[in-house]
Amino acid sequence: MKIGVIGIGFVGLPLAAAFAKMGNTVYCLDTDAKKIENLKQGILPIDEAGLEELVKKGMEHKLLHFTTDYDETLSNVEIVFVAVGTPPGQDGSADLRFVESVAYEIGSRMQKPLIIADKSTVPVGTADNVRAIIQAELDKRGENIEFHVVSNPEFMAEGRAVSDMMEPSRVVVGTDNIEVAEKLHQLYKPFMMSGDRFIHVGVHEAELIKYASNTILAERISYINTMSAICEMIGGDVKQIAKGMGSDPRIGNKFLYASCGYGGSCFPKDVKALIKFAEKIGVPEPYRNLLKSIEDVNDYQKTIISSKVVARFGADLTGQKFALWGLAFKAETNDMRESAAITIVEELLKHGATIVAYDPLAVEEAKNVYLANREGISYEKMDKYSLLDGCEALIIATETEEYRSPDLERMKKLLINPVIFDGRNLFDIPFIKKAGFEYYAIGRGDKL
Ligand SMILES: NC(=O)c1ccc[n+]([C@@H]2O[C@H](COP(=O)([O-])OP(=O)(O)OC[C@H]3O[C@@H](n4cnc5c(N)ncnc54)[C@H](O)[C@@H]3O)[C@@H](O)[C@H]2O)c1
Repeated sequence: MKIGVIGIGFVGLPLAAAFAKMGNTVYCLDTDAKKIENLKQGILPIDEAGLEELVKKGMEHKLLHFTTDYDETLSNVEIVFVAVGTPPGQDGSADLRFVESVAYEIGSRMQKPLIIADKSTVPVGTADNVRAIIQAELDKRGENIEFHVVSNPEFMAEGRAVSDMMEPSRVVVGTDNIEVAEKLHQLYKPFMMSGDRFIHVGVHEAELIKYASNTILAERISYINTMSAICEMIGGDVKQIAKGMGSDPRIGNKFLYASCGYGGSCFPKDVKALIKFAEKIGVPEPYRNLLKSIEDVNDYQKTIISSKVVARFGADLTGQKFALWGLAFKAETNDMRESAAITIVEELLKHGATIVAYDPLAVEEAKNVYLANREGISYEKMDKYSLLDGCEALIIATETEEYRSPDLERMKKLLINPVIFDGRNLFDIPFIKKAGFEYYAIGRGDKL
C-alpha cells in the first residue's frame, strides 16, 4: 500500500519504518525541514534499538521517502497517519494545534480520496473536529472528495518502539465504516502473524481506549509508590509487597515498580489531559479525584530522592558535589520529557549542591534543552565511574542496564562517602549493605 505518515517523531519514524519493512511505500512528512534533511542523509532524530537499520533498509529499497511537501505526499497515498505532537496546553488539556493544522493542510490540498488515521493521542471528539475542518476546507474549494477520519491510537513504548511496532499488543481502529476498518486490518495483518489482535470499535471508544490505557499504567505506578510511602513508615520493603501482590494473576506484576516517579512524553500529559477532559464534560467529582490523585502522588514522588539527600547531608549543600546516573525518563532512550531527574537536579541545585551527571544517551538533551543554562551541573558522556571522584554520594535516577551490576569496590574508592540514593530500587539491601554502602532507596524501610 502507499501510505503517508505526518509527524516524524518518536511515533512517526518507527511507524513509517515498520510499514516500509512490510513492503509498503511510505511518504514521511514533517514540517521540520532540518529533521527531514538529516533523515535523507541517514541521521536519525531519536535513539531506538534497531531503528537505524530499519530506516536504512527502507531507504535502500526506495520504500521510505522523506519530505516536507504535503502535495507530494497527499497525491501519492491512500492512507495518511497523523502522528504529530499533542503537548499539554497551559491548563493541562491536550493542545490540538498541530493536529488541527494538519487537518487544514489536508483539507486545502487533497485531490483524491483519502483515509486519515489519527495516531496522535487526542481527546474524545477530535476525529469529529478533524473531519469538520477537512470538510470545511473542501467546501471552500467547492470540491467533493471522499475521505474518512479514523482513530488508530498508538500503544508503543519508547525504548521498545521498533519491537512494539513490529509486534503490537493490539491494533485498535475506531470507525463506523466497515470497509475502512477492513482496509486497516489488512494493512496491519502482517504485524500480527502470531495471532490477530485487531480491535474494531467506534471512533470515540478508540480515542478513550488510549487515555484509559495510559492512565491505568500511571495509576499502578502511583499506587505502588503509595505503598512505598507506607513501607518507609513501617520499615517494610515495597519490592516484597509488589512481589506478593503481583503473584496474583488478577493483579499481575507489570508496572508495580516503586520509583522516583513516572515521566516521559505520555503518562504525565495524558493523565492531565484526561483529568481536564473529565472536568470539561462534567464527570462527577469523586471520579475526577481518583484521576487527580495519580498526578499528585507522582509530583510528590519526584521530590523524594532530593528530600532524602537533604535529610542525609543537610539543607545547605553548598560546596558538596553529587554524582547522578540517569537523565532520561527511563532506560534505553534519550527522551527527557518530564523526567524525574529534572526535579532531582533542580531541587539539589536550589540547596546549593553541584551535580555531575552521566547518561549513555541523554546528555545532549539535558545540556541543550531540559537543563540548559543551569549553573552547577556538568556532564560526563563516556564513563560512569570517573565522575564519582570527589562526589559526596551517587544518585541513581533511571534503571539503565549498565547501572545494575556496577563495580562497587571501584565506586567506593572514588566516592567521598559510600552512599547511594537509588530512585529505581536496583539493589538488594543485604547485598549492597554487605558491600559497605549506606543505601537509601524507595520504600525499602530506610526513612531518613
Ligand atoms: N512518544 C511516545 O512514546 C508515544 C506513544 C504513543 C503515542 N504517542 C502520541 O503520539 C503523538 C506523537 O508523539 P511523538 O512523541 O512522536 O511526538 P514528537 O514530538 O516526537 O513528533 C512529532 C512530530 O510532528 C511534527 N509536526 C508538528 N506539526 C506538524 C505538521 N503540521 N505537519 C507535519 N509535521 C508536524 C514535529 O515537527 C515533530 O517532528 C502524540 O500525540 C503522543 O501523545 C506518543
